[in-house]
Amino acid sequence: MCKIGVFDSGIGGLTVLEHLKKALPKEDFIFYADSLNNPYGEKTDEELFDITSNIVDYLSGRGCKIIVIACNTATTRCISYLRNKYPEIVFIGTEPAVKVACDGNYHNTLVLATPATIQSERLQILINDNKKKLNNVYLVPCFGLANAIELEDTKRQEEIINNIYQLYKEAEIDAIVLGCTHYPHIKDLISKYFKNVALLDGGEGVARETKKQMEKHGLITNKGTNDVEMIKTK
Ligand code: DGL
Repeated sequence: MCKIGVFDSGIGGLTVLEHLKKALPKEDFIFYADSLNNPYGEKTDEELFDITSNIVDYLSGRGCKIIVIACNTATTRCISYLRNKYPEIVFIGTEPAVKVACDGNYHNTLVLATPATIQSERLQILINDNKKKLNNVYLVPCFGLANAIELEDTKRQEEIINNIYQLYKEAEIDAIVLGCTHYPHIKDLISKYFKNVALLDGGEGVARETKKQMEKHGLITNKGTNDVEMIKTK
């Protein structure tokens, strides 16, 4: 039976997997947590192409015909490359929830993401496409944050969030886009500093899109039990 492949540089992708499990209760999943190569967000494109190709080889070897890239970094830097290289596989990406921020009509939005996502052409395109509806947007490359979450280093997490807060505390921030799938794991910490600020992530949209594409490509099995097989590289 065809399972849904899901991957990330570790525990970040679990925040997407939860939405996928809810949206597709009769499908099974293989979750590939590539903690060994964390952080993706501080690697070159060539390194990421190699790393993600290896994962796709593994998942397609296990029969996955649809792969959810539960990682903003791998999506913004590699999805076009992977779609070209593996035309037979359906790829679903995870992107910073800039569109959700537009729909909410916020005044001052912070986009927190890895350095690689912040520098990506794809994020620029997303922002340009939605420029008319966006007010002030601040892009913040969060060096070390995904890794501190992966390693459960709460002291380092707090230092990084506090530093960001000190920089933007006068900016009347009313929304924060969590542009890395690791960041929803520390929503409470972010809200401790940025009180009454909407925290936005793309997990629900990814699950909706996955279901839609599975229906379109005839990949729904309706025979699974919502099972998750975990593969960990470290
Ligand atoms: N969780 C990933 C993301 O959404 C990547 C974190 C990392 O490995 O740097 O960007």
